[in-house]
Amino acid sequence: MKAKSGIYISFLPDNLDVLVSHKDHCVLDVALRAGIAIDHTCGGNGTCGTCLVQVVEGLEKLEPRNEIEEEMAQDRSFNDQERLACQIKPFNGLSVQIKKES
Ligand code: FES
Repeated sequence: MKAKSGIYISFLPDNLDVLVSHKDHCVLDVALRAGIAIDHTCGGNGTCGTCLVQVVEGLEKLEPRNEIEEEMAQDRSFNDQERLACQIKPFNGLSVQIKKES
C-alpha cells in the first residue's frame, strides 16, 4: 500500500481503502459512510451479530472485546479474528473481510 496521510482501513474482498473520519466511532460507521454494505440489523448495538467481520490485518493492535461483544463471542463461539464491526474502533492499517451470511 502506498503512503497516504490520514487513517485508512481496508475492506475485503473488494480491497477498498477508506479514509476514516473523526465522526466514525466504529468500523461499521466507516463502511456505511463509504457506501460499503455491511448488514447491521440492530443498528450497531452489538446485539444481532449481522455486522460480523473477519480481521485480516491489525488483530494485534485491536482493543480487546468489550462486554457486549464478548458475550456474543462466547454465545456464538467466534474465533479471535471474528469481530463485530459496530464494536471495534478503526485504526490505520486495519483490514477486515466482510462476511456474508450463508
Ligand atoms: S450491527 Fe448488530 S451486532 Fe453490530
